[in-house]
Amino acid sequence: MLSPQSLQQIDTELAKYPADQRRSAIMGALRIAQTEKGWLSAETIEYVADYVGIAPAAAYEIATFYNMYDLAPVGKYKLTVCTNLPCALRGGVNAADYLKQKLGIGFGETTSDGLYTLVEGECMGACGDAPVVLVNNHKMCSFMTEEAIEAKLAELR
Ligand code: FES
Repeated sequence: MLSPQSLQQIDTELAKYPADQRRSAIMGALRIAQTEKGWLSAETIEYVADYVGIAPAAAYEIATFYNMYDLAPVGKYKLTVCTNLPCALRGGVNAADYLKQKLGIGFGETTSDGLYTLVEGECMGACGDAPVVLVNNHKMCSFMTEEAIEAKLAELR
């Protein structure tokens, strides 16, 4: 279900915790599984729960609570725009609107070519860098003016 490389990474996560606290590795394990699969299907969540040694329901609780986990297929690039108040006051909503207009999609949608998914995000702790866009849950892009968005989209294409 997961590659030997991913299982090895999950083993590394598991090794960070005492044997009776394996459940603490579930967030990292789900992240690793999502990186390999692109999103988390029910089968993948249950497989990871079984591998970590927790009940599937406990893994679902985590996967459905945090918005970095994708429970449906997403585009090659998932762009998460923070629109919480501090960012909104510094152009976050404008950046989101620009991306919507540029890509022709709304929040929660994917472009027809499968390249981009747009997501409305919560505070990422980078309010001072607003507007911010997170690419594929890992790469933070700061000060995303319309010009910066254009440059980022050109870079990703
Ligand atoms: S409010 Fe957007 S990063 Fe904090």
